[in-house]
Amino acid sequence: MRKKIVAGNWKMNTLLKEGMELAKAVEKLEKEKTSDALVIIAPPYTHLSRVKDLIQGVKLSAQNCASEEGGAYTGEVSPDMLKSVGVEYVIIGHSERRAYYGEDDEELNKKTKLALSKGLKPIFCCGEVLEEREGGKLYDVIRQQISVGLKDLSKEEMAEVVIAYEPVWAIGTGVVASPEQAQEMHKFIRGLLVELYDDQVAEDMTILYGGSCKPSNAAELFANPDVDGGLIGGASLKAEDFLGIVNAY
Ligand code: 13P
Repeated sequence: MRKKIVAGNWKMNTLLKEGMELAKAVEKLEKEKTSDALVIIAPPYTHLSRVKDLIQGVKLSAQNCASEEGGAYTGEVSPDMLKSVGVEYVIIGHSERRAYYGEDDEELNKKTKLALSKGLKPIFCCGEVLEEREGGKLYDVIRQQISVGLKDLSKEEMAEVVIAYEPVWAIGTGVVASPEQAQEMHKFIRGLLVELYDDQVAEDMTILYGGSCKPSNAAELFANPDVDGGLIGGASLKAEDFLGIVNAY
C-alpha cells in the first residue's frame, strides 16, 4: 500500500519566529486531522533544528541538500548535517532549483543517491514548462527528468523515494492543472516506473501533485487513482489552509 502524503514547501518564506509559530499551528491541527495522509513540512534550513523540537506527528523535510558529502563547499548543507538535526525528507530537483540555480538531471541524480545513502527520503520533483506542454514535449521532458534523475537506484532505494509532479506553469500562478491533466501525467509516471523498474516499484510509489493546490481544488485532484497527495507552496504558509488541503483527502 502506498503512502498518502501532503507536504508543505515553505520556500524562502518566514523568519524564525514566524516559522516556529507556523510549525506549532500545523502540529496542533495535524492532531485533529480527519485524513490519514502523512503531513510533512519543509521550512528553510535556518529553522530546521528549532522546528524539529516543536513537531511530533508532522514530519520534517529540507528543501534541498548538497551533492557532496562534506568539505570545502561554501554555503552548502550536507545530507549528514540534515540528518543530525532530525530531518527525514529532502526535496530534490524543485523547478526553482533547476531554473534559477542550474541544477541538471545528472547533479540531481547525484544528490538523490547521496541523500538515500545517508538515510534521507528524497521528494524528487519533475515538471514541464508551458512551452513544452504546448509543443507536445511534456512526456519526453518528464521521461528525461525521471530516467536520469532516478537512474541506477535499487528497488529498495526506490521504496524510499517520493515523486512530485509539479507542472511549472501551475506553480505560484493560480492556474492549477485540471484533475484530468494531473491524472494523465501521474499515470504516465507510474507506467514509466514499470518500464524502468518493475510493477511493484510503480505500484508502491507515492506520486504527489504540486502547483496552485488549495483547499478548494485539492479534493478533486486527490480523487484521482494515481494522485497520492500534494506538494503545497503558497497554501502551506497558513496552517488552516494547509490542513484544509490535508483534510480534503
Ligand atoms: P504553489 O502551491 O505556491 O503553486 O507552489 C507549488 C510548489 O512549488 C511546491 O513545491
